[in-house]
Amino acid sequence: MVQSRGNWSGTLGFVLAAMGSAVGLGNVWRFSYITGEYGGAAFILVYLGCVVAVAIPIMIAELLIGRRTQRNVVGAFSTLRPGTPWFLAGWLGVTVGFVLLSYYSVVGGWVLHYISLAILDGFAGQSTAAIGQLFQSLSANQALQVFWHAVFMTATIWFVSRGVSGGIEWGNRIMMPALFFMLCFLLVYALTTDGAAEGIAFLLTPDWDKISPKAVLEALGQAFFSLSVGMGTLITYGSYLQRDARLPRSALFVTASDTGIAILAGFVIFPLVFTFQLEPNAGPALIFETLPAAFGQLPFGQFLAVLFFLLLTFAALSSAMPLLEVVVAYFVDEKGWTRMQASWIMGGIIFALGVPSALNGGFFGFIDMLTTNWLLPLGGLFVAIFAGWSLTHQERQAEIPASDLRPVLYLGWVFLLRFVAPIAVTVILLQSIGLF
Ligand code: PFF
Repeated sequence: MVQSRGNWSGTLGFVLAAMGSAVGLGNVWRFSYITGEYGGAAFILVYLGCVVAVAIPIMIAELLIGRRTQRNVVGAFSTLRPGTPWFLAGWLGVTVGFVLLSYYSVVGGWVLHYISLAILDGFAGQSTAAIGQLFQSLSANQALQVFWHAVFMTATIWFVSRGVSGGIEWGNRIMMPALFFMLCFLLVYALTTDGAAEGIAFLLTPDWDKISPKAVLEALGQAFFSLSVGMGTLITYGSYLQRDARLPRSALFVTASDTGIAILAGFVIFPLVFTFQLEPNAGPALIFETLPAAFGQLPFGQFLAVLFFLLLTFAALSSAMPLLEVVVAYFVDEKGWTRMQASWIMGGIIFALGVPSALNGGFFGFIDMLTTNWLLPLGGLFVAIFAGWSLTHQERQAEIPASDLRPVLYLGWVFLLRFVAPIAVTVILLQSIGLF
């Protein structure tokens, strides 16, 4: 069974793939524009709080559930607690996988479009206003957005249809470090620009007045989105994991790299925002206005622009693949479809679902808000309650022995899972609908 589902080539392959899933558009595109909208430093601190107190404990729980059952999200819950409604939590994950990928792929398409723009003229000599106009033309051109969305989805389907090790591990080893070095290079440039001091102050000087209940909800959603937690991606990934991997250590490693890359991206983007006199709260257009303007100024800017958007495409693809994988694994395991069938049929449906997001910015914003801020935290809440309250100590410790997590840390993790994460998620969600 395990063999026929495929397996990671080893712990390193798994950690790289989990990092690949975590690091994506969420770190560069979403993190910077949300941070810009909610005022910078204070928002980042709330975000970090959500990562540590809520997302990491749930990430470890997802990995545990996956590896213990070696099943897809729905199968995992029904294997552990057969005959109970817990399988519905798995269903939520499959549904969220569908919806999230549908609009994620639209943004992946925007990045592809920017590769083509970079190849065609490289942004050199264009005013900031002209560069801003490029994004507006793209938003206004529905056919073009659907076209790039189709290209991105086809690539995702193709990789996933090739299978776990072949499809998903491929590329992560080179692309992740390359993206990191590219961001470091851009950081050096960004820090020498005129807006550097203002950009850094924006990221480091908290203004707590900007933290509304809405901002806290966004920070929570972003933590789930960025770490790929709350919809069973990591249950599915954990299910392909061999017994010798240490789950808490892998989770920490993935979180540290994901958070590090998001913050690094912030330090690249905000100096540029102030240098080019753009608004930090420009919304989803933010990176598409700042980075091309920077490439336009840099020596070898055209080459660097193509390279950067290519790397971002790979980061986006390695995040999109697990989203489709969650859906495909369900149809392969539970319905006996072949991987090829499941990938193309479900990928095709997801493509169709994404078309309205490509056609209408308002719909895009709504579906992003619904998925990221509501459905992912809700999925995470179920995992926390399941792993914290329904699983027994014996079940948890079979996957996370004292050799992997010292007893005091184990107790801390269970405490976060049982109390802190569920209460925080519930309070934040209820507060957002104005119940307090
Ligand atoms: N973590 C990805 C990103 O930051 O771009 C997005 C994502 C991938 C979310 C996979 C959820 C998921 F299951």
